[in-house]
Amino acid sequence: MRPKSAGIMLIVAILLGISGTASAATFKMAVGDAQGGTQWELASFFKQSLERKTQGVHRVALFPNGQLGSEEDTVNEAAMGTLDMSVLAINNLAPFSPTLSVLTLPYIVRNADEARTLVQGEIGRELVDNTVRDAQVRIVGWAFSGFRVLTNSRKPVTNPEDLSGMVIRVPKNEVMIETYQAWGINPSPLAWSETFTALQQKVVDGQDNPFITVAAMKFDEVQKYITPIRYLFSLEPLVISEEVFQHQTPAMQDAILAAGREATTHSYDYLQRTEREVRQQLQAKGMEIVEPAGGEEAWAKVAMERVWPRFYDTVGGKEKIDATQRALGR
Ligand code: MLT
Repeated sequence: MRPKSAGIMLIVAILLGISGTASAATFKMAVGDAQGGTQWELASFFKQSLERKTQGVHRVALFPNGQLGSEEDTVNEAAMGTLDMSVLAINNLAPFSPTLSVLTLPYIVRNADEARTLVQGEIGRELVDNTVRDAQVRIVGWAFSGFRVLTNSRKPVTNPEDLSGMVIRVPKNEVMIETYQAWGINPSPLAWSETFTALQQKVVDGQDNPFITVAAMKFDEVQKYITPIRYLFSLEPLVISEEVFQHQTPAMQDAILAAGREATTHSYDYLQRTEREVRQQLQAKGMEIVEPAGGEEAWAKVAMERVWPRFYDTVGGKEKIDATQRALGR
């Protein structure tokens, strides 16, 4: 940007109230996944939207693929105010604000519309407040990434029993660990930023993540089989450091929140447009998709029966699960 036009834009921004300081700011945003996935799409849309709203005075610089550390590290740094923003998976944010786990219980969310209903409704608003309170970061947008599907390099998996003898990587997330335990194995918790290498070096045999994430991370190079067990609809929050947020002018806060809402809408549309095509691309690259035997029944029943009750306290009581179900019309 030429200095003269930058100066004019800054004056416009100050007049609009979206710059609380005399200098332009560049927000640093970590993005856990590689470019090309749903996190990147959300982050890029948010960046464009916010830069447009602030006449280019405030910028957003994106750092994908764990460049700024593990997704957990980025939460700690944002809480301290040393990182402005991060896009990460809900399962990696939930350990910092346990009530978020209600959205990660196996099979609680059955499609993208339900995920959208929950995050945009009363449940979502309460979870945003809880996350500010517990983790000092504020969720301003959500990526809808689709259901997590199981991938592995060894054999077609249709039943939970097929997992026996396999080493499956999971995030450091208690709900997910206990879900695999309900399916009969002890999974290996590992940071997301270390997962590709662990798969490549065959330290682990498999993992689960949405189709679009599998493609963005090039897991097709190191994994062969996919089982769409669809146990967890992957929501990926865009968070801003609460300290950074509170230092913005009210108009700038509004601009950030509006950009987050727009990026959320875009993410939902992007998932609808893209997921099927990405699934086909993965098959064209040699991945084999095997459906779970008998639908997901064998996976869902045991996971729901054993895992949900263990997390009643974590999510704020059984009544929170009941309220979630009611919000979904069940
Ligand atoms: C994980 O598996 O740790 C995350 O869900 C991956 C991601 O952030 O996309």
